[in-house]
Amino acid sequence: MSEESPKQDRAPTEGMGLFDTIVNLAKRRGFIFPSAEIYGGIRSTYDYGPLGALMLRNVRDAWWRAVVRERDDVVPIEAAIITNPKVWEASGHLETFVDPLVDCRSCHERWRADQIDGACPNCGSADLTEARPFNLMFKTFVGPVEDESAVAYLRPETAQGMFVNFLNVMTTMRRKPPFGIAQLGRGFRNEITPGNFVFRTREFEMMEMEYFVPPAEAASWFEYWCTERLDWYERYGVPKVMLRLRQHEESELSHYSAGTADVEFLYPWGWGELEGIANRTDFDLRSHSEHSGTKLEYFDQTSGEHYMPYVIEPAAGLTRTMMAMLLAAYDTDVVAGEDRTVLRLHPRIAPYSVAVLPLSKKETLTPLAKKILRTLQRRFVCDYDETQAIGRRYRRQDEIGTPLCVTVDFDSLEDGAVTVRDRDSTEQVRVPIGQLPGTIAERLEAELDR
Ligand code: GAP
Repeated sequence: MSEESPKQDRAPTEGMGLFDTIVNLAKRRGFIFPSAEIYGGIRSTYDYGPLGALMLRNVRDAWWRAVVRERDDVVPIEAAIITNPKVWEASGHLETFVDPLVDCRSCHERWRADQIDGACPNCGSADLTEARPFNLMFKTFVGPVEDESAVAYLRPETAQGMFVNFLNVMTTMRRKPPFGIAQLGRGFRNEITPGNFVFRTREFEMMEMEYFVPPAEAASWFEYWCTERLDWYERYGVPKVMLRLRQHEESELSHYSAGTADVEFLYPWGWGELEGIANRTDFDLRSHSEHSGTKLEYFDQTSGEHYMPYVIEPAAGLTRTMMAMLLAAYDTDVVAGEDRTVLRLHPRIAPYSVAVLPLSKKETLTPLAKKILRTLQRRFVCDYDETQAIGRRYRRQDEIGTPLCVTVDFDSLEDGAVTVRDRDSTEQVRVPIGQLPGTIAERLEAELDR
């Protein structure tokens, strides 16, 4: 939660036991459910429950705040998920967005050849088919006729929406490089081996930004965005020891990239990608110019030169980030001689900022507690809970990461004050009701300005 938080010193990983615990907590507390569970689910597909929906929204907002709202050089768009298939021809996805697929002749499982060691991870057989290219794009048909002319694809990345709208955005918003176009939205990939909970799924949400720059400035903007994005995860509570930046080897680079660095997170199974930052050069604008016949260039009036900007792209996975933040936040300690589980989520990321808890369900307390709730709801996302003993309700709020609890007790009716309890320290202070919104805002905002 803060630099001083005990969480920062915790060992970076406690193995797959932690992972199972998080998967279990996510289901039990309403963050993430197996999709269509009553029908037996569907492999590696998940639905986000009430707390998951709130948390995803907070991660989205945190990204939006850093990449769009607090900048004057980035504008947002929302492009179509199913678009003209020529986009995917020009982007190279039709030809190169493929993984090598092998079948095990013994147990008939399918694997990505580059992710296994020549033997089937399921049954150990080395009797595998030759690897064949498998395109990861989901294919569909637009309109009622299912023939070749109606074939379309669900977007495998949001990035192309920014490239094909480059001219529209630049002219309508009167922009000149360097400037960025940002987009949040679902992406779809028919992954051969989805897995590790929401780490790799076939439908997921991405947070992408294409930053258009003069070619000569590409290298320095690449460095700039690597630092910015690494800092963002730390700012929102992922400890430094669980993050690193890894430059891609030449052989790993995507077909469009002149340089890529991954922000990696220390998952329970080891280091893995959280976000990729790529120097896409002018690959996309050039290719779309050639395929569409529309020149996607900037005219620099000062030098009288037309040029095609280079693109620096920070591309993050929203759902994967949510999982990493849950893993990083999980902690246990002992409070008043009792074990407790606590999610030390950043206050801006936690599903609820505040829980309002009347000490008892007595009619005398409810009107005041509800009045306080209504006031706080205007500014903060609040939970309200009046069932069970107060200690159990605190534990529940700790386990879902709520930073502050406001307890309304019988004294509140007399002294016009309530108790504010801090999730991390469990410290309780008495605050006059009139000062409550200001006190809470101060406590939550302090985390942002550190
Ligand atoms: N436009 C660039 C691009 O799409 P990417 O590295 O393929 O880059 C960006 O994807 C981010 O999306 C990844 O860093 C990861 O966080 C997330 N991501 C990619 N595939 C995913 C999947 N199958 N399930 C969940 N998240 C995924």
